[in-house]
Amino acid sequence: MSAEIKVKRPSSRKRSRDRRISNLTPAMKRTSASGRQCPDNTRPIDISRALDQSMDATFSEYCSDPEDLFGDYDSIVSDSSFLAKLDRVGQNMRQNDIEHTTSSRCPVILLAGNPDFTSLKSSTDNCPKQSCDDSMTESFLEGFTDDAFLDMPSSQLAFLQDPQTADRNCCTDEDKTSMSMRHPEKSVSTEDRNERHIAPKARKSVSDHLKRAMMANAATPSSVSRTAVQKEAVVTEEISVAMQAVESVSMATTDLGPFFGLPTKVKELICNLKGIKDLYEWQKTCLNLDSVQQRRNLIYSLPTSGGKTLVAEILILKELLCRRKDALFILPYVSLVQEKVRALASFGLELDFMVEEYAGSKGRFPPVKGRGKRSLYIATIEKAHGLVNSLIETNRLDNVGLVVVDELHMLGDGSRGAIIEMTLAKVLYISKSTQIIGMSATLGNLQDIQKFLKAESYTNDFRPVELKEYVKLKDSIYEVDPKEEECFRFSRVLNFKYSSAMQKIDQDHIVALVTEVIPSQSCLVFCPTKKNCENVAGMICKYLKEDFIQHKQAEKAVLLGELRSSGNGSLCPVLKKTVPYGLAYHHSGLTSEERKLVEEAYSAGVLCLLTCTSTLAAGINLPARRVILRSPYVAADFLKRSQYKQMVGRAGRAGIDTHGESILILQDKDKVLVKKLVSAPMEICKSNLMHSDGKGVLSLILSVIGLNITNSLEQIRDFMSGTLLSVQEKQVCLERSLWEVTQECVELLKEKGLVTVSTEPQDGSLQVTKLGRATYKGSVDLTYCDLLYRDLSKGLESLMLNSFLHLIYLVTPYDMVSQCKPDWMVYFRQFTMSSAAEQKMCAAVGVSESFVARKAAGQNVKKNVDQVVVSRLYLALVLQSLLKETDLWSVADRFQLSRGFIQTLLSSSSVFCSCVLHFTEELEEFWPFKALLTELTRRLTYCVQAELIPLMEVAGVMERRAKLLYNAGYKTLAHLANADPNVLAKTVENLFKKQANQIVASAKMLLNEKADALQEEMDDLLMMPLDLLSL
Ligand SMILES: Nc1ncnc2c1ncn2[C@@H]1O[C@H](COP(=O)(O)OP(=O)(O)OP(=O)(O)O)[C@@H](O)[C@H]1O
Ligand SMILES: [Mg+2]
Repeated sequence: MSAEIKVKRPSSRKRSRDRRISNLTPAMKRTSASGRQCPDNTRPIDISRALDQSMDATFSEYCSDPEDLFGDYDSIVSDSSFLAKLDRVGQNMRQNDIEHTTSSRCPVILLAGNPDFTSLKSSTDNCPKQSCDDSMTESFLEGFTDDAFLDMPSSQLAFLQDPQTADRNCCTDEDKTSMSMRHPEKSVSTEDRNERHIAPKARKSVSDHLKRAMMANAATPSSVSRTAVQKEAVVTEEISVAMQAVESVSMATTDLGPFFGLPTKVKELICNLKGIKDLYEWQKTCLNLDSVQQRRNLIYSLPTSGGKTLVAEILILKELLCRRKDALFILPYVSLVQEKVRALASFGLELDFMVEEYAGSKGRFPPVKGRGKRSLYIATIEKAHGLVNSLIETNRLDNVGLVVVDELHMLGDGSRGAIIEMTLAKVLYISKSTQIIGMSATLGNLQDIQKFLKAESYTNDFRPVELKEYVKLKDSIYEVDPKEEECFRFSRVLNFKYSSAMQKIDQDHIVALVTEVIPSQSCLVFCPTKKNCENVAGMICKYLKEDFIQHKQAEKAVLLGELRSSGNGSLCPVLKKTVPYGLAYHHSGLTSEERKLVEEAYSAGVLCLLTCTSTLAAGINLPARRVILRSPYVAADFLKRSQYKQMVGRAGRAGIDTHGESILILQDKDKVLVKKLVSAPMEICKSNLMHSDGKGVLSLILSVIGLNITNSLEQIRDFMSGTLLSVQEKQVCLERSLWEVTQECVELLKEKGLVTVSTEPQDGSLQVTKLGRATYKGSVDLTYCDLLYRDLSKGLESLMLNSFLHLIYLVTPYDMVSQCKPDWMVYFRQFTMSSAAEQKMCAAVGVSESFVARKAAGQNVKKNVDQVVVSRLYLALVLQSLLKETDLWSVADRFQLSRGFIQTLLSSSSVFCSCVLHFTEELEEFWPFKALLTELTRRLTYCVQAELIPLMEVAGVMERRAKLLYNAGYKTLAHLANADPNVLAKTVENLFKKQANQIVASAKMLLNEKADALQEEMDDLLMMPLDLLSL
């Protein structure tokens, strides 16, 4: 039974779909685009359609937010006026701020009567210490002069009457991290251990040398005792026993060693670094499964917060330490990769393996060989694909013993799902000894995925904290019980007392619902749009008593200070108002640094409530006592079952709460759909290789030919039979069989000049052309490859280097174009401020000053101008300003774009720049671009003052922290790697010991990695050629 809930989307435009005209259709049949011809008779394909498609999907996500899209659920009737008021208040406050900028940085006494939390007064001043006062509240509320709020919800009154509840159960961040530096003696024993497994090296390596020097610098005399050395010996012994056990593993063997085949030290590290003392029963069972012990592929599926990650991490450690193979850990987002790199770097240092980050533009292809040291690659979906390709190309995929995919249900997630499928299909086909493990909380069709991965499965309903699901209809709360006919069982009537004005503004009683838990417990409110997140946060604050301000007042002041310094002095006006109440919003419009600060403050209990979009539900571990779903919609779309499950799954914090609860607010009209939502099985996860008219199949075939995995139609057929698409052929390939699709794709690749047939006599094998190789090596989207070729060729004819603009334009991602509409006045102003050379360049790419001037004047322009070029140039102007000024806030302000969008633009440009670099490396005629793009990638990746770059290379160190570190004297990677975490935590403002430990560990890891890369280069230089002539 299909679990998909079909909802009529009022706003989705209908587009006629002619299946014959698609990306599978030769471009020459669809368009007669002009411009320079690509090599090998490549013809440009029409990207306008692809752009149009993505425009629909993403425009609302990035452009200045459209109005709220959820009709009856928007009970905040004065949303827009609310924001306008906020703005007005913000302006007044800004004026105040200017007056306060002279205040000292010295913590932490709040200025009495000061409406701004972030203005701190030096402790040497004689001002009496006073709690943040009413004037602050008033200053915030003066923008909302209506006197609607007369009565408090009774739950809140209860809180106010009970001062004890104000003492929030805060995270005691007890630091147990063992990060003692290794003593040289200790490294000798490590070396001894290595010698058992790898051939002895005649000369000392550069990295060993560096490592020794580093260790000697950092070692404190007392850090290594005899017991430590003895412990190390025991670990070595345990590892070797475990290895022997693995080697001699028989079908009957279940007990491989002291801790699931790993040394006891691993258990200690898990306890010290993660605070986990014992495994859950299901985790033990899972680790003892036959399929795990005999290294068969496995998918395990458990509810959210079930503790899936730990099992994967133990298996990874087993692979690295016992089997001495590399491992690849695939996570869906850059921030998750960085978090994992930071968390596992300490394990790597203690257990002697490398932890390498593959995210954004970071990560080497192929990776450094590591000389006997095993590597754990932690990668985003896209980077993992590039990594696997590079390992196949260098015949090294067998070195990867284990691939772990977290959130495996993302296989069903559009083009990203297609990339996961391609990666796994290649691993399955090439390396039979590589084990694949996938995990998910929301897989509806386990059997299909099992068949694709030839995997066994393990499922369990375990959840460490009980989750109760409720819905709220009018003023009643019903418990969700799918077993009951009605699905909902009456639970209670919501206890609240609203004035009529308040009832009008908060029709859904959100204030009543949240004040039942905050501030003593935490709450997440999922909202359908970004704008609504901000409005709901503001609205709740409006009705909170001033007592909320006194809760964790000092910590909130620190947070505001950090938010302000992350914005180089600018502070989001909404956060400025909500943070004093312990509230914040969280969505992609915030910069990543702001998001991180908000997340950290929420985890530490400084903030008690976040209003957020569905993006917070994926992967991030920010649980809450109560989760409220503001409406059953994401933008205009009805919630999917898996989205619902991910959101409600954030409720209940392991180790803190005894239970968690979710409340979905619903209106009468959605009752039937919501019944289906809470009771239906999970949606099935479908192959996405046919997504965007088969783009996945096209690029998969191109890369398998390019990587020499297959070179005949028959072999391609064989390869394709190992995909998820093949398993689901009947459901997904509706009009043609997979074999027909395959043949059609090969023909199309030939027509596009990306694949050709060998001209060698008697050969006839399929080969990629130079453009084909450049395309798959650069991971360039097939939709744009010939356009990119033409743009770069044009660039060669007229590249202007007296300004960055032309170069930036060439690496401005095509797929961001649809996400931003130029503001013509801003465009014109920027244009007129450009140099004569820049204006000439703009005209050369097809955007003249007169065109922009007419647009700015609101005139109709009849001239046929390429909209893609116009918008892309606009984005290039944004990027250029950013590179010049490095101040995200002022650029966002000038271009009237959200700072979150600007940051996304910057990071996707740095990724695309490195793709273009790899693309040009494969095409001789583009050699001049190599040096230029290498430097540009670096600049786009960091976009900060040059001296901060070495510090920001360390996983998760962002600009603000890099500045603090730099100012505290930690100026290079070596400074960080050799730092004592205790000293670091004391010297750098607001840096917890645990974070300091992680920074030092990550820096050490990175230094090792760099040294290994140098060593590899040296080894290659000094290696005797195998084919050297001798007498
Ligand atoms: N054995 C354990 N004892 C105590 N806490 C644990 C244990 N195993 C995992 N945890 C903790 O439980 C929390 C949730 O674990 P984890 O992130 O692995 O959940 P998950 O199953 O991956 O959930 P999701 O599907 O939401 O990603 C983490 O904070 C983790 O440290
Ligand atoms: Mg997880």
